[in-house]
Amino acid sequence: MPRAVFVLNISAGSRCRKNAWYNYTGVCTTLCVSHRQSSKQRPVMEGNDDSTSEWTLPEPLVFDGMALPSFPSFLKDARKRFEDIKNLACRKDDVLLVTYPKSGTHWVWEIVSMLLKQKAEYSKEPKECFFLEILPDLTVVQSMPSPRQLNTHMPYRWLPIQHIQNGGKIVHVMRNPKDVCVSMYHHAKTTMEFGELRDFGTFFDKLFLNPKAHIMDGWFKYEKDFEQAEKEDKLGAILTLHYESLKKDPIQETRRLAEFLNVKLTEEDIAEISDKCSFQKLRLANKTIKDHSWISPDMPNRERAHEFVTKKMFRKGMIGDWKNHFTVAMNEEFDAVYKEEMKDSNIQVQFE
Ligand code: A3P
Repeated sequence: MPRAVFVLNISAGSRCRKNAWYNYTGVCTTLCVSHRQSSKQRPVMEGNDDSTSEWTLPEPLVFDGMALPSFPSFLKDARKRFEDIKNLACRKDDVLLVTYPKSGTHWVWEIVSMLLKQKAEYSKEPKECFFLEILPDLTVVQSMPSPRQLNTHMPYRWLPIQHIQNGGKIVHVMRNPKDVCVSMYHHAKTTMEFGELRDFGTFFDKLFLNPKAHIMDGWFKYEKDFEQAEKEDKLGAILTLHYESLKKDPIQETRRLAEFLNVKLTEEDIAEISDKCSFQKLRLANKTIKDHSWISPDMPNRERAHEFVTKKMFRKGMIGDWKNHFTVAMNEEFDAVYKEEMKDSNIQVQFE
């Protein structure tokens, strides 16, 4: 894979009043710049300096039109891993958690795990031990006991075909794309899965909204393809949870998930599971209970990956953190892209 670089020309201007931050009330003090101007004058954030106006990112690894994170399996042979996942031998009672990255996968993973065990008890193994893209070798999946709980960020067309033919259960979590964008920026900044990122504005422009670098298909295509799959899902095999609904009413959404998984539990059990999976408790469990030795030695930037999963994965866990990152101009730009991309979709996203 050629590792060419693309040069990003960014004018890293200082904070500019014309480009006010979007804030919690949604009120912008002044906004009088066009998108074109605004992207040039965009303020820099979080540990960035104004010392240079030009920097480079490595060209992302691309397969089937998707920009991929630098996981060892992808770096070694992305096509093989995609095909191995698609051809995975599945069992009828497998449960597959499928999400666009940063949509709340770890959270729902733990809820599903407790529901299937019928116990509000954390498992020592983190979700990465069952993450199809990152497992060093997919043959280990075959020796896992049933019911297997697997997870992936594969777009729908690359999901295990046998699982779909079996009518195997798919739990899909969707989160509003502005918060996904922010969460992914923080993830990628620490892990350097897409190279060294300096500021949020660049991630926003050059990766998240860039059609040539759509990470895992990009949020829009990923979710629209899922929407289509759900329309065609005659077996009722797909359940979509919304991160925001889970946050606003965790007991109700956990109950819905239990019903989908045919798990019969008391209301007290459901309440205990949703409480044990609340943000603060899960963050603590991630530090004190989970075994993070899964990070393989061939993981690029291994220390940074370790730092991320142990200290930063459970970052804020809130709805609407995008308002602390997007400028008003960015928000307008995003809304315009959203409007165009989602014009034929019935997906309802909760941005706050
Ligand atoms: P933030 O970075 O916005 O905090 P994923 O597991 O798909 O990588 O998603 C990670 C995001 O889910 C992070 O978002 C993380 O904080 C959030 N998250 C994890 N557990 C959560 C919980 N119990 N409640 C709310 N958000 C949670």
